[in-house]
Amino acid sequence: MSTMAGRFLTIEGIEGVGKSTQVARLSAKLNERGITHVVTREPGGTPLAERIREIVLNSRDEVLPPTAELLLMFAARAVHMTNHVEPNLRDGRWVLCDRFIDATYAYQGGGRRLRVDDIRQLEAMVLGARRPDLTVLLDAPVEQALQRARQRNAGAAADRFESERAEFFERVRDAYHARAAAEPNRMVVVDATLPVDQVASRIFKLLEARSWIS
Ligand code: TMP
Repeated sequence: MSTMAGRFLTIEGIEGVGKSTQVARLSAKLNERGITHVVTREPGGTPLAERIREIVLNSRDEVLPPTAELLLMFAARAVHMTNHVEPNLRDGRWVLCDRFIDATYAYQGGGRRLRVDDIRQLEAMVLGARRPDLTVLLDAPVEQALQRARQRNAGAAADRFESERAEFFERVRDAYHARAAAEPNRMVVVDATLPVDQVASRIFKLLEARSWIS
């Protein structure tokens, strides 16, 4: 076991901003630099948490009230933290996670308009003191991002979030921005309308600036 804990990096943003592409780019960069890491996602990241993901994204036959959605997000997170994120960090591996706690504030808080205080309580219960070391918020105007997401998903059925209207994503984006403004050192906004290579290089620079990679 390594003596140094791994770094915990999360990537956030609304549908269609290019998160998966940037997660893959960053992972390739970390490999180049010999940094041992795991790539994961929320909701999901372990077999049990992926089952919860399936419920929360694709339940259609019954109403899934926003409170149940919130609790399922945290249930998946608790499973993911215990079985995957914490053990990897403890063993010195970096964890690169596609979405995390900020998505809950953005989607369930902003999008679904649930109470921020309730989210905070669940956050304390499930995460304790654990927070990402760095969060990259990929940002693009809602219409542009949604158009990209629609092109990418052409032919596939939309999940419960993808079926939401633009107003929902405007609220999600605003909530993300509020999070970034409140914690500018941890959460950095990167313009996702730039070419993919430029976005990737801005993200690497954030790590270099912290002397995490060279
Ligand atoms: P994605 O990972 O394929 O983007 O889809 C996951 C969806 O789940 C996405 O629409 C955002 C949503 N989500 C929440 O609503 N709250 C959360 O806490 C997380 C992690 C994701």
